[in-house]
Amino acid sequence: MAQEDIFKKIIAHCKEYGFIFQSSEIYDGLSAVYDYGQIGVELKNNIKQYWWDAMTKLNENIVGIDAAIFMHPRTWEASGHVGAFNDPLIDNKDSKKRYRADVLIEEYLEKLEGKIQKEVDKAAQRFGDAFDEKQFRATNQRVLDNQQRIDETKSRFVKALENSDLADLKKIIEDAEIVCPLSGSKNWTDVRQFNLMFSTQLGSVSDEASTIYLRPETAQGIFVNFLNVQKTGRMKIPFGIAQIGKAFRNEIVARQFIFRMREFEQMEMQFFVQPGSEMEWYHFWKEKRIKWHRALGMGDAKYRFHDHEKLAHYANAAADIQFEYPMGFREVEGIHSRTDFDLGNHEKFSGRKIQYFDTELNKNYTPYVVETSIGLDRMFLSIVSNAYTEETLEGKDEGRVVMKIPAILAPVKLAVFPLTKKDGLPETARQIMDELKFDFNCQYEEKDTIGRRYRRQDAIGTPFCITIDHQTKEDNTVTIRHRDTMEQERVPVAKLREIMEEKVSMRKVLKNL
Ligand code: GAP
Repeated sequence: MAQEDIFKKIIAHCKEYGFIFQSSEIYDGLSAVYDYGQIGVELKNNIKQYWWDAMTKLNENIVGIDAAIFMHPRTWEASGHVGAFNDPLIDNKDSKKRYRADVLIEEYLEKLEGKIQKEVDKAAQRFGDAFDEKQFRATNQRVLDNQQRIDETKSRFVKALENSDLADLKKIIEDAEIVCPLSGSKNWTDVRQFNLMFSTQLGSVSDEASTIYLRPETAQGIFVNFLNVQKTGRMKIPFGIAQIGKAFRNEIVARQFIFRMREFEQMEMQFFVQPGSEMEWYHFWKEKRIKWHRALGMGDAKYRFHDHEKLAHYANAAADIQFEYPMGFREVEGIHSRTDFDLGNHEKFSGRKIQYFDTELNKNYTPYVVETSIGLDRMFLSIVSNAYTEETLEGKDEGRVVMKIPAILAPVKLAVFPLTKKDGLPETARQIMDELKFDFNCQYEEKDTIGRRYRRQDAIGTPFCITIDHQTKEDNTVTIRHRDTMEQERVPVAKLREIMEEKVSMRKVLKNL
């Protein structure tokens, strides 16, 4: 099945089973804004807990905060967002549709790469085991031509972005003969810069001074609280501050479901270090973070690093952790060495001294910062897109759709089923559920056949279903049915809590980080 079709199915599945709904759907929705449903919110909370515990519980020198979304407007001047948080936009004069110029060029490059891959795949099929991909890429003329186009465009593109050369961005689009996907025309406007921050008015007077922004990143709430936390928490460098919260960006190319939204959630940690030691910590956190991802067991090959060629205005090194989504490898998390840019600028703009006295070095300095910043919604998307599995079942007409969500993150950990609605089985099932519900998110179901109930739980990713049958009344045992293998085992009721704890608790995964 084409990746695009799989992605559509995942989106439909997320809606059908209460993971994610379009925001304000009864009014035809709001573009690039989504609501998490009754199952989605559980998964989201579990991801947050996995991240929060890994940061704050496993590291004595990392503490958390929860800063406000609204901040003093000077914050965003100091951070550089008022001046530099822009996307280069271009309009097609015929369709009147607006695009990000950089995205149009990136898509063009991806198309060329796709063409090369097609040639390689075709040749691999033709030559079989004897195929030498390296040699093919070095000698096939069509591949060489496309590779040359990619290299030339890429190097012009990086330079144009670095120099904010909007005229050259337009020229690249024209030279590559990129057409508007809607009108098919090459009738483009000039490229203009567009600030991504949402603004609103504070109070009732609508003048310049009362314009405030919805934060485009949570990080600034940490920077402005650096001294508060350092002093009240008696923190010694190196130390970190972690935060989970909403961020807002007026994204122009907002698409691919929850991958790029206008309202989204970030989990960020700023790690404050001695100037000069930032590269060591940058590499430390790169490794630590990819390990956190891989520990979920979704497959190491699903992740890769992408080192940035063009650095953000505040960074001296930056890399993304990319995940292989249905639409290809894309950024799920960024690790940035932000230097002393933010604290230094807040010192300048606020007029307050924001420094740290290092008792070991016996001197004051502005700490450097290494940041880890992960999009909660992108993490969510990586999990549901990886989990979505269609299976045919031997000897059955119907297959099943099963969400193979890592058990520690599963929205519902176990479902409790009485085999029938009579003979006291529901009462026994309720008793078992009443014992387990304090430790695990459980669902009770007695309607429909056991098979149907299994399917419903498979669809929301419940890793274990417990069935109470007539034998339970005789020997106090139940069956546990495993989601992924569909195997069943019989276990004593008295052992259920311990068995579940072993299988779904985060403890074991956290211990291995
Ligand atoms: N404080 C640094 C920062 O905000 P970023 O690379 O712009 O850096 C960090 O964003 C992470 O936030 C990204 O890796 C991505 O997972 C997530 N993110 C950014 N923009 C997003 C959007 N429009 N929708 C969903 N997630 C987004």
